[in-house]
Amino acid sequence: MKISIFGLGYVGAVSLACLGRDGHDVIGVDIDRSKLDLIASGKTPVVEEGMVELMRKVAASGRITVTTDSEQAVLDSEMSLVCVGTPSAANGSQDQGAIQALAAAMGRALKHKTTPHVVVFRSTLVPGTVEDVLRPIIEEASGKKDGVDFHLCFQPEFLREGSSIRDYDKPPFTILGANHPAAADRLRELFGHLPCKFLQTSVRSAEMMKYCCNNFHALKITFANETARLCEALGVDPFEVMDLVCQDTQLNISRAYLRPGFAFGGSCLPKDLRATSYLAKINDVEIPMLSSILASNQEHLALAAKKVLASGLSFKSGTDDLRESPLVTLAEQLIGKGIQLSVYDPDVHLSQLLGANRRYIEQHLPHIGQLVRADIEAVIGESEVLVVALGDTHVLTALQRCLRPDQLVIDLTHLPNTAELKAQVQGLSW
Ligand SMILES: NC(=O)c1ccc[n+]([C@@H]2O[C@H](COP(=O)([O-])OP(=O)(O)OC[C@H]3O[C@@H](n4cnc5c(N)ncnc54)[C@H](O)[C@@H]3O)[C@@H](O)[C@H]2O)c1
Repeated sequence: MKISIFGLGYVGAVSLACLGRDGHDVIGVDIDRSKLDLIASGKTPVVEEGMVELMRKVAASGRITVTTDSEQAVLDSEMSLVCVGTPSAANGSQDQGAIQALAAAMGRALKHKTTPHVVVFRSTLVPGTVEDVLRPIIEEASGKKDGVDFHLCFQPEFLREGSSIRDYDKPPFTILGANHPAAADRLRELFGHLPCKFLQTSVRSAEMMKYCCNNFHALKITFANETARLCEALGVDPFEVMDLVCQDTQLNISRAYLRPGFAFGGSCLPKDLRATSYLAKINDVEIPMLSSILASNQEHLALAAKKVLASGLSFKSGTDDLRESPLVTLAEQLIGKGIQLSVYDPDVHLSQLLGANRRYIEQHLPHIGQLVRADIEAVIGESEVLVVALGDTHVLTALQRCLRPDQLVIDLTHLPNTAELKAQVQGLSW
């Protein structure tokens, strides 16, 4: 394939070398003349394991050319990979100066292009950039339409500096955000042979998932480091602890707890997080991330209350252990606002509540006895708004059978097939 690559920093230079190695004709474009001179003479513009050797080989193959002329590079290629930098501006926002200038130049070139062209954005871009910022610039400058005359897509890059050639050849997966199968087919020609999944999604999801990946990595590192600081203060070996933590692939290193839903609660997480923060405090250890988890959870609960209060209420959950149940807190807040509440919970049979649970309810929600109902159909029937926190078959069937078009469901659990429900459905944060 004839490919133009814009921006020959880490991402662009490694892509140029690897695509040249794989037999493609590659045009490298950069505004920095010194990088172009290095590449033209078979040298690498970035310090990376394996790049010296690889650049020498691909330059000798004659498949690589370089230029500062963006428009000509678009005209001379079938596909453009955009890898220019997107650094932080002083206020923390993403500086899109380079990529927007480049989009305008590409648009001017596409105006004169009569053959199909695919533009693949590989720079990290805040969600919405391709469709709301770059597409209008390119369409305006070219007088042509995305999806008709050319195709824009977004393919996040996952290589890491230091191991970038190896990461190029063995990424965790290939994610392609594309709105058109023609673009996806061309990308498969380039990356379909890699030993990983090739997953196609929307352009916006692809942009967002790149941020999620980096945020998740930062979160994991910080988790290990805060744990280590606390361990050191407590005289515990942090490596031993984290090794044990990572050996649980059921709850820890797994998909568990990574599905968006309602706030957490229960008899363990809140109290153990509080005890962890206290331990850190008395040992003079700063653990800002772990210490702010409860505050974030509180925000999620507040969002649910806000959504319910924007309408009316009735309500549900999935264990009879109500200690620190975020649903109980939500109910308290709603009762406090004067909302008429009824509760259905298949697992909470008040008469059978014993010990701590009973005491908790007596202390925290004494009027729950009058609110809990045994008949789900009656609860659905008499409510204007239903807050659903449990999506088991029994609840789903009742909802499918009894809901009416005048009712509103506030979905805290991401119910399946909501289009089949007769009421209006509003997700908590989706
Ligand atoms: N470095 C990484 O490990 C990595 C990994 C994944 C994603 N990314 C993302 O990829 C993008 C590129 O990162 P990088 O580290 O390769 O950046 P970099 O700063 O090393 O290189 C960017 C290059 O773009 C060039 N450039 C700027 N404006 C240009 C223009 N108008 N036309 C042509 N070239 C232009 C610059 O001269 C520079 O050579 C960023 O969005 C980054 O967030 C980087």
